[in-house]
Amino acid sequence: MKIAIASDHGGFELKENVKKYLEGRDIEVVDLGTYSEESVDYPAYGKACGQAVANGEVDRGIVCCGTGIGISIAANKVKGVRCALCTDVTMARLTRQHNDSNVLALGGRTTGLQTALDIVAAWVDTEFEGGRHQRRLDMLDAE
Ligand code: RB5
Repeated sequence: MKIAIASDHGGFELKENVKKYLEGRDIEVVDLGTYSEESVDYPAYGKACGQAVANGEVDRGIVCCGTGIGISIAANKVKGVRCALCTDVTMARLTRQHNDSNVLALGGRTTGLQTALDIVAAWVDTEFEGGRHQRRLDMLDAE
């Protein structure tokens, strides 16, 4: 699996930790920035990660900002992206099983590191269940 990661300054430290975690699992990571704690604008990073997923450059994406909210809104504006902001492992598991979420959003200032990494693990390892859930995803994609 190939995963793109992106953050603003509020999610930078968490992004770095997520990157370390994924690479430790031999998952290929494409780091779209930001690359320091200098203030940047989350819409650009959410969009870049969403586009990498929608274009098929990567299989999935993980985005981080202070709360995870702004960057999840930005990612979800890209057609084909289903970005889920998760604050616990149950949400991570269910959004994969039911929503086939292809981007995960996390809050660097609102979710503790170990919880965030547990969320990433559950989200990476859980498969989409298909069936009735696919019909609902088709409805999301309908014009
Ligand atoms: C940046 O200060 C902060 O607004 C951003 O990281 C995020 O929390 C927005 O939703």
